[in-house]
Amino acid sequence: MKNEKKKPQPRRAATRARRPTRAAKTVYVGMSADLIHPGHLNIIREARKYGRVIVGLLTDGAIASYKRLPFMSLEQRKQIVENLKDVSEVVLQETLDYVPNLRRLKPDFVVHGDDWRTGVQREVRQRVIAALQEWGGRLIEPRYTEGISSSQLNNALKEIGTTPGIRLKMLRRLLGVKDLVRVMEAHNGLTGLIVEKTRVAVGNQSREFDAQWLSSLTDSTAKGRPDNGSVDLTSRLTTLNNILEITTKPILFDGDSGGLAEHFAIMVKTLERMGISAVIIEDKVGLKENSLLEKEGGQQQDSIANFCHKIRFGKQAQFTDDFMVIARIESLILGAGMEDALRRAEAYIAAGADGIMIHSKSKDPGEVLHFCREYRRFPRRVPLVAVPSTYSQVSEQELAAAGVRIVIYANQLLRSAYPAMARTAESILRHGRALESEAECLPIREILRLIPGGE
Ligand code: SPV
Ligand code: MG
Repeated sequence: MKNEKKKPQPRRAATRARRPTRAAKTVYVGMSADLIHPGHLNIIREARKYGRVIVGLLTDGAIASYKRLPFMSLEQRKQIVENLKDVSEVVLQETLDYVPNLRRLKPDFVVHGDDWRTGVQREVRQRVIAALQEWGGRLIEPRYTEGISSSQLNNALKEIGTTPGIRLKMLRRLLGVKDLVRVMEAHNGLTGLIVEKTRVAVGNQSREFDAQWLSSLTDSTAKGRPDNGSVDLTSRLTTLNNILEITTKPILFDGDSGGLAEHFAIMVKTLERMGISAVIIEDKVGLKENSLLEKEGGQQQDSIANFCHKIRFGKQAQFTDDFMVIARIESLILGAGMEDALRRAEAYIAAGADGIMIHSKSKDPGEVLHFCREYRRFPRRVPLVAVPSTYSQVSEQELAAAGVRIVIYANQLLRSAYPAMARTAESILRHGRALESEAECLPIREILRLIPGGE
């Protein structure tokens, strides 16, 4: 109805001289436009009724600051929005916060679906209202289009899955837009699903894990084997395949020492073909032991020359530019000291490493943060990786402030599952029945719903 009222042309022309027409007014619409659906078109159509539509297209960084990375690149999203019938202009919105763009453009209206009155965007909305008041602008909130949303489409896409090529590139894309990439271990399909789906709202952010860590420790432990290389690559790849089948997030693979350079080259090709984003290899030789073992002296560090040779070999084997070989330094664990760790970092980068993981089994983060401070002075740097297992008191903010770009929670899902399972087994033995263990157990109904296609 509103539309019809606006139609008569002559009156419009007559009023143009006295005050700006509706067409001269500007309307700002912020959007990610990753999965364009009728709800978006409805908002744009509504916005057009108030004037010239400027879409503030959220950049990958702005989107990743509060939810997962978009499927399409910024360029692809921009191309689509520019070609929508009612859009006059597309500008980039570099932050989730609209205010910088609004102050610059001073639109007469902002249009947004009314769904943002609650949830993670509530605060953003308040700031928009306050900013608009500065020049007498107005917020218009059309009713949210029921029955379709980006989140629903997202979930549907997740069920369809992804391709190796898309998954492989995602780690580099994340590093391009996020200060800190958050990685959680997965050691089977179920834990892969937990990493895929777990999401919490914190302030105005929807927080989730960005990627998965294929830990040798948790994969071996889940198979009842020690973390000493006795679970061979074929068996590790079986775990990997189970996870690939039902997840879409990128994967960093724990390659132990990578073996001989020639064997490492084959591992790189295999992982790359499967769509893995990165392999991390550690500079140790001989029978492998887990780095967090308390006993000292059992492990030998590789020579710098030999490990650099392995890095080079691996880098030459890869097919795409996106796959990453990350070098893991064990100097702080094996007592070789800070100087040695820094010397190795420099050499590994020169050999072509795409990332450096500095490992530590100290109970406080001091030595890792010290390494980070020294590392900042390097003229050539690659993303730094930290694994705060023994120094778990350190926060993501502290690590990011120190320059860490990837944090790996390497074993927590397995470590938390085991005590719950052991308690349940003990309870059934003690009581001679299962009833008392029910409080710890997921209802049967829910376990059937947990897995796509289970119901
Ligand atoms: C793993 O998770 O297998 C690792 C990290 O390699 S650590 O267990 O700390 O050595
Ligand atoms: Mg390992």
